Amino acid sequence: MPPAITDPSTPLTASADPTAPPVIESPEGARVTIGGRQYDWFRGNSYLGLQAHPDVLRAACEATLRYGLKLRDHRRVGCHPCVLEWERAANSFFDCEAAVLLGSGYAGGAVMAAALGDDFDVAFVDEQSHANVWDGLAAAGVRVISFPHRDPAGLAAVLSTDLGARQRPLVVSDGIFPITGALAPVPDYEAVLQPYDGALLCLDDAHAYGVLGRTGAAHRTTSV
Ligand SMILES: Cc1ncc(COP(=O)(O)O)c(C=O)c1O
Repeated sequence: MPPAITDPSTPLTASADPTAPPVIESPEGARVTIGGRQYDWFRGNSYLGLQAHPDVLRAACEATLRYGLKLRDHRRVGCHPCVLEWERAANSFFDCEAAVLLGSGYAGGAVMAAALGDDFDVAFVDEQSHANVWDGLAAAGVRVISFPHRDPAGLAAVLSTDLGARQRPLVVSDGIFPITGALAPVPDYEAVLQPYDGALLCLDDAHAYGVLGRTGAAHRTTSV
């Protein structure tokens, strides 16, 4: 394996524009190639390193040759069997009611807001939750209140001041926060929500699946 170059004085990009993103010339993994040089890579979103796994690449090539290029399927128009196969596998892995494959994790917040529709009245979001949650709920025109990071008492306080009588809360948090690796105090949130009829707790487990729980099914196998 080639040695990593980690000299912090080496600029990641030769671009004159300091806001330009580094151009990555290799699959994303623990190391990437930028400007022809190898770097240790602590960012990106290939969380389990599967984007460059040989089995995944081989299967993706075979599926592309067979079905053509398509990032997502429109269910009413028609859908390829590999999408249904993926959803069945996810369904069984997470032992849940149903799984839906989306084109990106970023779409998650908007899809959650649309799917839950009228099932809640006010959304309470951990102040450090990922942008997809804020953007998705804002686009849906939902009333959103933030609560202090990983703080069940803070959540209880905003629930008592910002939720009207007979209103149902939706509480949203990352299951594991990407920057710090901190876990959401899920059992404590469940206890706080106990008195609220119809309360919903929704976790973005983008950083928890494959990592948390005996099988890697994240909060589906722990306390939720
Ligand atoms: C907690 C969390 N949710 C969702 C996303 C969005 O996922 P994607 O990059 O696949 O769109 C990210 C990515 O940074 C994330 O950290």
